[in-house]
Amino acid sequence: MPRPRTGRAIAAVRCARWSSACARAGSRRPARHDRCHGHRLDRRPDRGLAVIPIRPAGSGGVLAAPGAGLAGAAPGVSEPPPLALYVHLPWCIRKCPYCDFNSHEFRDGDSPPEDRYVDALIADLESALPSVWGRSVQTVFIGGGTPSLFSPEAIERLLAAVRARLRLAPGAEVTMEANPGTFEAARFRGYAQAGVTRLSIGVQSFSNDALAALGRIHDAGQARRAIETAIDAFETFNIDLMYALPGQSLDALRADLREALAFAPPHLSVYHLTLEPNTLFARRPPPLPDDDLAADMQALVEDETGAAGLRHYEVSAYAREGHRCRHNLNYWQFGDYLGIGAGAHGKLSFHDRIVREARLRHPRAYMSGALDSGAIEVSRTLAAAELPFEFMLNALRLLDGVPAALFVERTGLSLAAISRELQRAADRGLLDPDPTVIRATPLGMRFLNDLIEGFLRD
Ligand SMILES: C[S@@+](CC[C@H](N)C(=O)[O-])C[C@H]1O[C@@H](n2cnc3c(N)ncnc32)[C@H](O)[C@@H]1O
Ligand code: SF4
Repeated sequence: MPRPRTGRAIAAVRCARWSSACARAGSRRPARHDRCHGHRLDRRPDRGLAVIPIRPAGSGGVLAAPGAGLAGAAPGVSEPPPLALYVHLPWCIRKCPYCDFNSHEFRDGDSPPEDRYVDALIADLESALPSVWGRSVQTVFIGGGTPSLFSPEAIERLLAAVRARLRLAPGAEVTMEANPGTFEAARFRGYAQAGVTRLSIGVQSFSNDALAALGRIHDAGQARRAIETAIDAFETFNIDLMYALPGQSLDALRADLREALAFAPPHLSVYHLTLEPNTLFARRPPPLPDDDLAADMQALVEDETGAAGLRHYEVSAYAREGHRCRHNLNYWQFGDYLGIGAGAHGKLSFHDRIVREARLRHPRAYMSGALDSGAIEVSRTLAAAELPFEFMLNALRLLDGVPAALFVERTGLSLAAISRELQRAADRGLLDPDPTVIRATPLGMRFLNDLIEGFLRD
């Protein structure tokens, strides 16, 4: 089968980092719908949540008619979906030139104010308890920023506080992100003892030249040592790689993939490097592979991971059997999540509404808010007309798609409300015509942005 070679196809592939990132602040480019569940809320979650207004479709629709039933607020759900917890730790040693996450270099002292920040997280969690009363938490994700800047003691205090206030499901997945530049074996073991079950390591590349071009604080040797320790210390782990790097060749990417796969990672995330607005790379773009080369790179990622026994299950995610990231799957299946920490986002479903929230974005403002008057900057009830797009933005990233019934369960809308859009996408060959699933075809996967935009209401 010929490889896609158009810019549009690449644009779909670029819709990449949408995962645990979902609950961190920050997608600044709604048009591309990249990562961060903040997609519809952003672009600056800290400045209010509705940059792309989606107007309700008018009033007085008949629920069963195509496209109707979408006036006014979201109807709410009869059964709340699974609940996850996202915790954002917003500091990094140095800001990478491509990164638009809510991450801040700490300037006052040698380390972030972890005691005060954990106090703030606990206060934030306490205030959020009434909104999740009686529900158990299936997964926890500690993301950043660079969470591995925090000491094992701070992570232990945080997780103990979470366990004391929320019911963690038996066998809950607890992921934490780590930068190899903060690697120390004893520290990693300390995180595992504190209850972290899954370490996600930001390796990006095993080429020292590529790491330098990306402004990373670590070299390949530190990345290798971090992975070796993670293999011993944690139940499971993930390696993050990026491709289409400045000056990268196909052979260089092959070498990165082979080295990563030689560690037999249960999970591998491979992100197409994107130039995000308001980053150093956007202001001074480095020389990047052209679209054709980037398409060949994507194909190479699929071939190499497949040959190593990893299954491609989401735009940028590859896993062995039993090691898909449960936390991210919950986002992609339009589950609920409570997001605490600077700039974190949340989505919570109730019997009469579905609400999105965002916390204050700047760490200082967040800490004072959480410890004093409250840390929520925005809380917004979703309009019914927003839900089809929101749902598809997540679900269509999964290569297996989702059962059609999940749309009804998670949005409270009927399938009839989107029958026209479903039919149109199937007619264009972008969506599987099987009425029991919602799944992109291979063509739909290549033109994912087009497919998802078909569910936008104006
Ligand atoms: C929060 S970081 C992981 C932990 C840690 N901060 C680090 O960088 O090592 C999440 C991942 O997003 C990916 N990422 C960040 N900015 C990106 C960009 N502009 N394009 C593609 N991937 C990006 C990187 O692979 C990174 O490991
Ligand atoms: S270490 Fe990670 S979060 Fe921090 S600036 Fe770099 S990519 Fe962004």
